[in-house]
Amino acid sequence: MKEALRYYFSMKPRVLSGIQPTGNLHIGNYLGALKNWVRLQHDYECVFCIVDLHAITVYQDPAELRAKIDQTAALFLAAGIDPAISSIVVQSTVPAHAELCWLLTCVTPLGWLERMTQFKDKAAKQESVGDGLLQYPVLMAADILLYQARVVPVGEDQTQHLELTRDIAQRFNSLYGETFVMPETKLPAVGARIMGLDDPTKKMSKSETGAYHAVGLLDPPDLIRRKIMRATTDSLPGVDFDNLGPGVQNLLTIFQAFTGWTDEQVRSHFAGMRYGELKKTVAEAVVAGLEPIQQRYREITSEPGYLKRVLRESAERVAPIANSTVRLVKERMGIYTD
Ligand code: TYM
Repeated sequence: MKEALRYYFSMKPRVLSGIQPTGNLHIGNYLGALKNWVRLQHDYECVFCIVDLHAITVYQDPAELRAKIDQTAALFLAAGIDPAISSIVVQSTVPAHAELCWLLTCVTPLGWLERMTQFKDKAAKQESVGDGLLQYPVLMAADILLYQARVVPVGEDQTQHLELTRDIAQRFNSLYGETFVMPETKLPAVGARIMGLDDPTKKMSKSETGAYHAVGLLDPPDLIRRKIMRATTDSLPGVDFDNLGPGVQNLLTIFQAFTGWTDEQVRSHFAGMRYGELKKTVAEAVVAGLEPIQQRYREITSEPGYLKRVLRESAERVAPIANSTVRLVKERMGIYTD
């Protein structure tokens, strides 16, 4: 009870972000989003979502999806999200997300959605494109605006969706009067766009299937080492800061994001280093960075009932905030609120 009161009366600005429970979470998700979340939770009131309603915009095997939702939530905790000060919410357990999505759909021009690059990319890979894929960014806007979030920490690939969120909020505010806070995008200083190890011209992605594409947060140390040792570099013999290829740049970024070293430290340590040595150093930094997360993950998943309790308490904590936004939006639009 005391915890809940502290939460409701907190005057801290709010943060909202989310991750889809699909595929395996990788170091791109960690460095682009999760790691930043852990830092922000002390200065903001945070809501972190496992966005299962987004996941089903493309077909998911039901049993696999159900397991991935829990795994993703456990990884949030393992990465350092503290459920005493932050909420970890499974999107589908708070129906206001879907309800606000519909209300916002009605103020969103179709052309805005058809222009989204992620929609175009994903649609190009499908034989038949579901309407949910088109509405995907509106649901994302609903996630953010539902909590009147001031800050949204994400990787670079989400910036276009965040611009759309602001456009939708602005359009709603101008049609119906000031309602929504304008959210700002927060990218990490290093690691906003981690590239695939096998192809450093492509973003590291959960949906890529190549065995050497991504380092998963739960990959065992030997597998991490093997993947990084096989990473694509270029034909130069060693690190040349005046001539950095995308593969080498990506490895240095991964190292810097895990260790927190400054640019100068990275330069003086790696200048001229042969690629084999560079890869070994990067692999050890990643293994050391993921080891405590994996250890906590094992603890969390071996404690019966703990995860369920965190998810239930979080949903109960945020539902009143979400419901009051939906109520306000309905009032503004002139529809029934009860
Ligand atoms: P998702 O699940 O694709 O990715 C989760 C987070 O990880 C970041 N990310 C990366 N960062 C750096 N390098 C990469 N290679 C990389 N790959 C992914 C993403 O930018 C993201 O921050 N649409 C969102 C989920 C979402 C959401 C929201 C986010 C739904 N509602 C509301 C913020 C606010 C997505 O698909 O993320």
